[in-house]
Amino acid sequence: MRQTGSYATSSTLGESVQAFVPSALPPAAPPLDPTAFLVLNQRAELALARLAGVSGLVPSVDWLLYSAIRKEALLTSQLEGTQATLTDLFDEEAGFAVSNTDDVEEVTNYLRAFRLVRENLRDPAGLPISLRLLNDAHRLLLDGARGAGKQPGELRRSQNWIGGTRPGNAVFVPPPPERVGELLGDLEHFIHNEDQPTLPALVRVALVHAQFETIHPYLDGNGRIGRLLIAALLEHWQLLAEPLMYLSGYLKQHQAEYYRRLSAIRTEGDWEGWVSFFLEGVEVAAHEAERGIVAIASLVAADRRRLLESPKATPASYRLFEMLPMMPRFSIEKVRQRLGTSFPTATAAVLLLEGQGIVTELTGQKKNRTYSYQAYVDLLTR
Ligand SMILES: Nc1ncnc2c1ncn2[C@@H]1O[C@H](COP(=O)(O)OP(=O)(O)OP(=O)(O)O)[C@@H](O)[C@H]1O
Ligand SMILES: [Mg+2]
Repeated sequence: MRQTGSYATSSTLGESVQAFVPSALPPAAPPLDPTAFLVLNQRAELALARLAGVSGLVPSVDWLLYSAIRKEALLTSQLEGTQATLTDLFDEEAGFAVSNTDDVEEVTNYLRAFRLVRENLRDPAGLPISLRLLNDAHRLLLDGARGAGKQPGELRRSQNWIGGTRPGNAVFVPPPPERVGELLGDLEHFIHNEDQPTLPALVRVALVHAQFETIHPYLDGNGRIGRLLIAALLEHWQLLAEPLMYLSGYLKQHQAEYYRRLSAIRTEGDWEGWVSFFLEGVEVAAHEAERGIVAIASLVAADRRRLLESPKATPASYRLFEMLPMMPRFSIEKVRQRLGTSFPTATAAVLLLEGQGIVTELTGQKKNRTYSYQAYVDLLTR
C-alpha cells in the first residue's frame, strides 16, 4: 500500500493522539499513472469546454455568473449546515427583510471571499494563490457573529480533529499545528511548480483540494476555503474562463462519498479513487450547469419575445426586463433607482411586466409591494 504520510504524536485536551502529517504532493511510491485518468480527464475537460461555449447563448455572461456564483456560495455553505436558500439571498440583495440573517451572512461572506480571490488573481499586481491570499479570504469568510471565535484569517494554533466527540475517537486527526505552515508552503510550491508535465491540470486541482483538507489549517471554514480554491484554480489554470460551475452541488449530493474518499487517501493510500471521483464530479457538475444555462436562455428569450410583441411596452419596461436576471426580486423603489427614472415611470414598467405575466407581486398589499421574476427563481432553485 502507498504511504501518503506519517504520524506524529500530538497532544490536545490532555490526550496524546497520533496526528497525520501528509507527504508533499505529488503522490509518490508509486506515482500516479497519468494514463489511468486519460478518459475521465478528457470527459471532464470536454464538459468544461462545452459549458464555456454555451454561455454564448445569452447576451451577457454576467447574467449567468450572477446565479452560478450564488449557487456555489449557497451549496458550499449548505455542506456546512447553513440553512439559507437562494431566495433568501435574492431577498437580501433586494433589501427585503430575511429571517435567518446569520445563515445569509455566511453565504454573502463566501461571496466576498470569492470576489477577493478572483480580483487578486486577475490583477497583475494582486496576490498570487498563496497563504496570504487564503488567509485574507478566510478573514472575510469568518467575518461576523459565527466566525468570531474561530480565529478568522489565522492558521490554527491548536490541535483539531474531525468526527468524534474528542481527539481519541476522531475519524481524522490533522497535522499538529506547528507543522501547518510548512505543509502549506509545500502545497503552495506544488501549485506554482509548472514542472508537472505528466499530470493534467484538473488532476492537480483534485490533489490540491484533498491535500488542503488533510492539512485542515484553520479552526473552521476549511471545507469552504478548500472548495473556493477549486473554483479559483479552475479559472486560474484556464480550465473554465468564468466560474459558471457549482461543483459543491455534486459534493453535497455525494457528501458521504466525498468525505470517505478524502479519508481513503490517508487510510488506504488511495489517491486514484479520489481523483476519479473528482473528475467525474466535474463532468457531472459541468453538464448540469450547461443544462441550467440552456433553460435560462430559453426562458428569458421566450419572455423577451412576449414583451417585444406587446404594443404597450416602453423603453423603461425593456430596460427593466434586461435587469431581471441579476435582480430577480425587487421593489418599485429599487427599480426606480436602477433605471434612474421617476417613481411613476418605474411603476408603469413594473406593472407592464406584471400584466405580461413575467413578474408577480408577492405581498398582496397596497404598500411596500415586492415583485419576483418567479419562473426564473423557480428554474434556479429547482
Ligand atoms: N475524513 C476527512 N478527511 C479529510 N478532510 C475531510 C474529511 N471529512 C471532511 N473533510 C473536509 O473537512 C471539511 C469540514 O471542515 P470545516 O468544518 O473546517 O470546514 P467548513 O467550511 O466550516 O465546513 P464544511 O465542509 O463543513 O463546509 C469538509 O467539507 C471536507 O472538505
Ligand atoms: Mg465547519
